[in-house]
Amino acid sequence: MLTAREAIIMTAMETAWIILVILAALAAVLCLVAIWDDTRFVTRKYTIRSAKVSKKLTFVFVSDLHEKEYGPHNEKLIRAIEAIHPDAVLSGGDNLIAKKAMYDTTESFMERPLALYGALAKEFPVFAVNGNHEDAMRQPEYNEECPGYEGSHIARDLNDAYEEKLRAAGVISLHNERVRFSGIDLVGLELPHESYDKLRTWKPTEDVVEETLGFAPDPEVFTLLVTHNPKYFPQYAHWGADASLCGHIHGGIVRFGRHGLLSPDYTFFPTYCCGEYHLYAGGFDHTLIVSCGMGTHTVPVRIGNPAELVTITILPEEN
Ligand SMILES: [Fe+2]
Repeated sequence: MLTAREAIIMTAMETAWIILVILAALAAVLCLVAIWDDTRFVTRKYTIRSAKVSKKLTFVFVSDLHEKEYGPHNEKLIRAIEAIHPDAVLSGGDNLIAKKAMYDTTESFMERPLALYGALAKEFPVFAVNGNHEDAMRQPEYNEECPGYEGSHIARDLNDAYEEKLRAAGVISLHNERVRFSGIDLVGLELPHESYDKLRTWKPTEDVVEETLGFAPDPEVFTLLVTHNPKYFPQYAHWGADASLCGHIHGGIVRFGRHGLLSPDYTFFPTYCCGEYHLYAGGFDHTLIVSCGMGTHTVPVRIGNPAELVTITILPEEN
């Protein structure tokens, strides 16, 4: 027969075990979800209507690949894009992992994105902008101390080699450039390196897009702005982009519906995380579409946040 004190201790121990088992089960479920979400991708479809277009246009948007591979040579991803049969493929940057440029003497870190975009460029027009990882390879901190190398500017050289190989494969890089494509303007915007500042001290001017690009949008032509960071959507809208495509946030690592937990500049629940957003400026509606990205780096975790292949269909306005 247990004493009252022993009975209380037994009950407390049983409760502690139950809590422990529940926590262990929750951790196991979270791990399984993280593994599941890190090994698959979903296709998200968006539709934009505009009086500025006269025919249907479909784009596939691939962002933040970070050297990820879905099947050998990214076969699964290529098959998925082929099934969509887009008018063009747009790359939103961060196809590489910048830190690998400091250690990889074989250029193997660029093989996966080069293979993917090389294969896609054989079938579709491919346009690309840089993300912060490609941009970082050109910055002093990635070039001053490269272990295993002699001399400096190694990451920069690798970035040059990567760029040249992309170009040779048929990929058109849009470094603050505009190209007329099927009746619309595709614009690749690459804001200064400081725009990715993790201390969040960089304050852009209202006109930073025009100052960076050096040109204004043609008001008669639908302008699709492809740029890496969604944080500056108000500036993109102020400049006059009809629609902007971004990535960078990786869905916030852990996602609660449309709300992601953390951005790369350590902002909790960033304003523009993933999905579709609208701003009314200059007398018309501007659209922002943010991809959760295709890959991960540093923290290879996605919870409630599978990778995304994004398709954007632009249609003439209904009468
Ligand atoms: Fe990024």
